Amino acid sequence: MIEADDFAINNTTNYLNNAAFGPVPESILNDTHAYLQEYSHNGPDSPFVKKEAYFEETRNAVAGLIGCSPEEVIFTQSITHGINIIAEGYSWKENDRIILRESSKEHVANFLPWLKIAKEKNLDLQITGSDEFGNPDLQKIELLMKEKPGGIVAIAHALYNLGTVLDVESIALLAKKYSYTVLVDAAQTVGCLPVNVKALGCDYMVFSGYKWLCAPPGIGILYISKETQKLINYYGMDVRILEAISDGVQVKLNFSNDDYTVKPGPYKFENGFRNYTGVVGLLKAIELLNRVGISEVAKKNKELIALTIQLLNDIPGVSILGVNDLAKRTSIVSFKIEGKKPSEIVAKLHNYRIVLAAREIGDESIIRISPHYYNTKEQIESCVNLIKEIIKQ
Ligand SMILES: Cc1ncc(COP(=O)(O)O)c(C=O)c1O
Repeated sequence: MIEADDFAINNTTNYLNNAAFGPVPESILNDTHAYLQEYSHNGPDSPFVKKEAYFEETRNAVAGLIGCSPEEVIFTQSITHGINIIAEGYSWKENDRIILRESSKEHVANFLPWLKIAKEKNLDLQITGSDEFGNPDLQKIELLMKEKPGGIVAIAHALYNLGTVLDVESIALLAKKYSYTVLVDAAQTVGCLPVNVKALGCDYMVFSGYKWLCAPPGIGILYISKETQKLINYYGMDVRILEAISDGVQVKLNFSNDDYTVKPGPYKFENGFRNYTGVVGLLKAIELLNRVGISEVAKKNKELIALTIQLLNDIPGVSILGVNDLAKRTSIVSFKIEGKKPSEIVAKLHNYRIVLAAREIGDESIIRISPHYYNTKEQIESCVNLIKEIIKQ
């Protein structure tokens, strides 16, 4: 369970913007600070400072969280970074097709890298429609795949603006049939809802530590299934990705003036000096989440969004966006207020240390509330009460 002061933020701020950034619990701030101090005081060559081992421990923890093997977990800097690794590294063939939903329903991070690569390599980018909640048109997707087998579908697991959880499993099934691979942007689900990557059936998945996992910023996660790792060409070179060979006496890296051998697994997608502190923070964040239990987290989040919707529904002039079925909603409730500008409402709430976000769906501005398990029903009530007051002003 969480310690009373883990989310000390609750003492000062009514923070309901977890879809943008999850606050780092005090215990994790302390753990990462202690690690950084130990590192700074000893340097990277000290036998007393744990470094690469933390990477592998954290890889195991991530694998446990999403139900894959550690060899399928790659640490990135951000979600965007992970998507770019796939878009830039994919072994594109001339006739490959990229299938996306329209840009208003996909985060730009999962749109622009595909647009860039399609332009550069002259690939066939197809934008499929979706309904008002963002649900993809599966029939259209199947037609597009059938018409031209081979390529990638990239899709959010849940919409950052409407909160709808999408049926990515059906897309993954279609993809297998027509030789496509699927990238799922799970920014808005991992850490908020139980997510099992094998059950989703996708080939690549991206998410970050800094949103629903409440880890420090600067760490993203890219899952690439073992079966598809050979399809992704890596860029960048680093001693850490070289195979090590032993002659029985000495261990040395397998490279010469003419050639080198890269070790298998996730390492070739990571290079340079590592974010050791971020990885320690991510490990501690997953451990904390595991102590609470992701089912408990999801249950609490559903209660909070149910209350949010119920209270907002009672305010004249407020229209709530997104699906009614809470099973198909992540912990995001977006709404509009007749005659009011979202950015102004959000700014006014901020003056009272209530933190929401102004976002958009296409050209339309919206207000987004995204509570997490450490938030309370009282916080939702006081936020909605203040919205009522502000509307009257
Ligand atoms: C659905 C979704 N995808 C991608 C991103 C981009 O994340 P990052 O800044 O880590 O690349 C966000 C950030 O809000 C997001 O909500």
